Amino acid sequence: MAEEVTGEGTKFDLKPNDELRFEVETKQTVVMEMTHGKGEVFGAELAKNKKYKFNSGAKVAVYTWHGCQIKISFPNLVGTTEVAYISKETPMLMYLNTHAALEQMRLKADEENMRGPRAIIVGPTDVGKSTLCRILCNYAARLGRAPIFADIDVGQGQTDIPGTIGALSVERPSDVEEDYSQLSPLSFHFGHKTPQTNTALYELLIQRLAEVINMRSEKSKRTNVSGVIINTCGWIRGAGYELIKNTAGAFEVDLVMVIDQERLFNELKRDLPHFVHVVLLPKSGGVVERSQSSRGEARDAKIREYFYGIDNSLYPHNFEVKFTDVKIFKIGAPVLPESCLPLGMKAEDNKTKQVPVMPSMSLLHHVFSVSAANSPEDNVVETNVLGYVVITAIDMEKQCFTVLAPSPRPLPKNILLMMDLQFMDIK
Ligand SMILES: Nc1ncnc2c1ncn2[C@@H]1O[C@H](COP(=O)(O)OP(=O)(O)O)[C@@H](O)[C@H]1O
Ligand SMILES: [Mg+2]
Repeated sequence: MAEEVTGEGTKFDLKPNDELRFEVETKQTVVMEMTHGKGEVFGAELAKNKKYKFNSGAKVAVYTWHGCQIKISFPNLVGTTEVAYISKETPMLMYLNTHAALEQMRLKADEENMRGPRAIIVGPTDVGKSTLCRILCNYAARLGRAPIFADIDVGQGQTDIPGTIGALSVERPSDVEEDYSQLSPLSFHFGHKTPQTNTALYELLIQRLAEVINMRSEKSKRTNVSGVIINTCGWIRGAGYELIKNTAGAFEVDLVMVIDQERLFNELKRDLPHFVHVVLLPKSGGVVERSQSSRGEARDAKIREYFYGIDNSLYPHNFEVKFTDVKIFKIGAPVLPESCLPLGMKAEDNKTKQVPVMPSMSLLHHVFSVSAANSPEDNVVETNVLGYVVITAIDMEKQCFTVLAPSPRPLPKNILLMMDLQFMDIK
């Protein structure tokens, strides 16, 4: 039952297995406090009597195994009231069972000195894939595990800004308010907000990410035993389906969790090798569907957060960079018919090629990855990135750019990779 919440606050008594859900509207802030009992937000435990703040766009669910009391208030609410509600129907018990199964595999891996479980979460958009990844990583971290969270969703990823794929080691549960944004991820430049734009590059980067994860796992027993949780985007038909199969293969997954799509579940059960367990999980009634425009806004917010932090807690820098100080590339040239290519070259090869980009006004507002590569002759495409800048002004006469960067000049390296994503730096 939905309940109206006034500015000063309303208390909610949650019984075991209840979930309190609310959404923070534009320009609103919610302050939440647990006054009794035990509760968690997507697997991260709440501290008693601590005030948590959520900003506009946040969609929050407090789940409790044992019961708790939650007070929520809208400090800057004017006029109308907001709505929060308690639901008694959640798939949390099934998610917990999934976690328990993963933990059994970790215990076995630990004993036998083997690799821990690798699980990929797939399904259509807006079914709670990212949320399930977060819950599973947090539950594992609460037991002292350090799973690798690999996020290959270039549109709505959680580990870094859009247009990238990457991974991070979850050594402790995420902050209740902040997701994983405070951890520094390993990231690769893709440059687009959907894998469709360049599937050849996407698959190459997935191979590379899997390779790096294997190397890291071999170096640490704790990481190796803890396993890998892989988040994907919602592209599940046609070439998207082929991608899911290839990704499962690249990461050598043991487990595929399909959320809310019986057809996809059946297809994967039929097509994946028999030693891969495929499970079907329900979606939570709390998952909120996002419109195309709110996806765009979320991408923008993620880029803003990279430079400005949450609640403007970071102070980015603006400085000039001479055209001659940087080498700019984009990855992927237009595909030519094979008859136009040198002998032996495949059309697909062009899609993973680095192409020089000349300074021009068309670079304005684009986001660029700063490659960790030292020279264009290195394998730039498969080298990780150090961070991102946005070109906020271009002076063709003076032959220089102004860039927005997270740290002061100079740039850490001089190879920039252009994204087709833009960011308007308006306060
Ligand atoms: N149980 C829940 N109650 C309320 N909101 C939820 C719940 N689970 C997920 N959400 C929210 O729904 C949105 C979509 O979920 P997400 O995990 O991002 O879906 P997907 O990754 O499948 O697109 C997110 O903003 C998330 O915070
Ligand atoms: Mg997602």
